[in-house]
Amino acid sequence: MKILSVVGARPNFMKIAPIITAVDEYNFKFGDKASNGNAARIVHKLLHTGQHYDQLMSALFFKDLKLPKPDIYLGVGSASHAVQTADIMNRFEPVLLSEEPDVVLVAGDVNSTISCAIVASKISYGAKRPLIAHVESGLRSFDRTMPEEINRIVTDHVSDILFVTEESGVKNLKKEGIAGEKVYFVGNTMIDTLLKFKKQAGLSDILKSLGLAEKGKKAPYALLTLHRPSNVDTRENLENIIEALQTLSNEMPIIFPAHPRTKARIEEFGFKRYFNFLPARGPSTACLKRINAIDAQGYIDFLCLLKNSRIVLTDSGGVQEETTCLGVPCVTLRENTERPVTVEKGTNIIAGTDKDKIIKAIDSQLGKRSGKKPPPKWDGRSAARIIQILAKKNHERSSSLVS
Ligand code: UD1
Repeated sequence: MKILSVVGARPNFMKIAPIITAVDEYNFKFGDKASNGNAARIVHKLLHTGQHYDQLMSALFFKDLKLPKPDIYLGVGSASHAVQTADIMNRFEPVLLSEEPDVVLVAGDVNSTISCAIVASKISYGAKRPLIAHVESGLRSFDRTMPEEINRIVTDHVSDILFVTEESGVKNLKKEGIAGEKVYFVGNTMIDTLLKFKKQAGLSDILKSLGLAEKGKKAPYALLTLHRPSNVDTRENLENIIEALQTLSNEMPIIFPAHPRTKARIEEFGFKRYFNFLPARGPSTACLKRINAIDAQGYIDFLCLLKNSRIVLTDSGGVQEETTCLGVPCVTLRENTERPVTVEKGTNIIAGTDKDKIIKAIDSQLGKRSGKKPPPKWDGRSAARIIQILAKKNHERSSSLVS
């Protein structure tokens, strides 16, 4: 069986890394012979679309997660949604025709995900086309103004095998009429990665560099991430969020690894006065009781910041899940979440972007340490389950093509 996995943007890297490990484990276990009704040895190829291309947004993650160099790099870069999506599709089609994989595996909800899934759904080589497998299926915010929601819906509806991270996903897909036999509740591959690297993250020196750890004692701090276009692309919304964080920043430093999009907007709107800009490392680094903006961080340093923080403020989907797994209180700066299990587990509050609501949510979250309550199947074995299922599905398909 040949699997072609697609990555493109930062959140994809953590979701695909354990898939590659699981393929290696599978090959080690089964070698060249067919076993348990599964197909023999798996050939894996990694394709990077180049949606994210910076050292900080991409290369550093390959290094931290020990990902192999991509076999194929499409080099698309940034553009409007239409241009970026079309460009990925344009460049992906000839690759598919020459590689002829049995499975195309896409993850999450970014433009690279939808683009490659659509191309794979309409291609044919000989009498077949690849099976399309979607990792992190079924999540729904029910907010179609989010580009990611459109990406999720379309990708799910052209996929053949849908790997779901939480129970809400199974229900959502059923409601949309997707056949139950395509849907597998396997858990969360991003959490596979977190569990694998958690210990290593404890060795990061980022807290020390920021003046937050000395002689084994850690100072309380909050962690902020912000990159959704709806939050950062309009002056009013961004200013509103920043102002809502002022009270908290008087109490403890807020560490803010800034996404390039957000950095650009802060400059454009003349908001630099609200921040203390710091290098993450260096002699001049010492964070203050303010919003301390540092560069976007790699996986290990970010995980260290995450697991030691008193409270996390975020508009990221992945960070909501990571805080749930770590038992760190989280305030989500969005009106909705596609990951309701994070709220059910009690670690996450959906505060929206109203100033008073944010302040109230921070207050109530600061009072508690939620404790670790990992949702079902967030156990570090999700990618292994996925590979087992893919091997079986591909074997069934090959058998039916022969007979
Ligand atoms: C994308 C995903 C979003 C995900 C986020 C994680 C889509 C629709 N959105 O949003 O779901 O949560 O990634 O980061 O796919 N830029 C750089 N360097 C890079 C990449 C981007 O400077 O390596 C800048 C560019 O100015 C670009 C902007 O960031 O225009 C936005 O990048 P883009 O890939 O369009 O979307 P994200 O906001 O990162």
